[in-house]
Amino acid sequence: MIAIANDHAGLALKPEIIALLNEMGLEYRDFGTDSPESCHYPIYAARAAKAVASGECEMGILLCGTGLGIALAANKVRGIRCVTCSETVSAALSRQHNNANMLAMGARVIGGEVAKAVARTFLTTGFLGGRHQTRVDMIMALERGEEIE
Ligand code: RB5
Repeated sequence: MIAIANDHAGLALKPEIIALLNEMGLEYRDFGTDSPESCHYPIYAARAAKAVASGECEMGILLCGTGLGIALAANKVRGIRCVTCSETVSAALSRQHNNANMLAMGARVIGGEVAKAVARTFLTTGFLGGRHQTRVDMIMALERGEEIE
């Protein structure tokens, strides 16, 4: 199950992402918004991020104007590693090295075809583990307020 959430500025990319998930045969849960009215992206980021953090959804895709604010908000939820990507190299490496569990993209930054390519890469690339696991563990220790050196 993939979580999707967006604000008004990200709404334009949502049909593209839903089309991709349907093409890939992946189930999704849409946490809104479906309205073009101006709204507050942290609300939607939190809904989707909590679903990923709880395990209800394996991964999440967030959409706002830039992909920045909605990622910042999602990363305040414990257990979330959300990255903003506008191209596929970063999307692949965010999975391989950082075990990112949420992807944010900006509808004012990239178009539908690029967003689909970035999301497809993110959803199909695996974590490499090994030395990267040690570093991800350190990130999560920082989140718990622990010393890491
Ligand atoms: C909304 O105007 C815009 O600020 C939001 O979508 C996002 O880009 C914030 O980071």
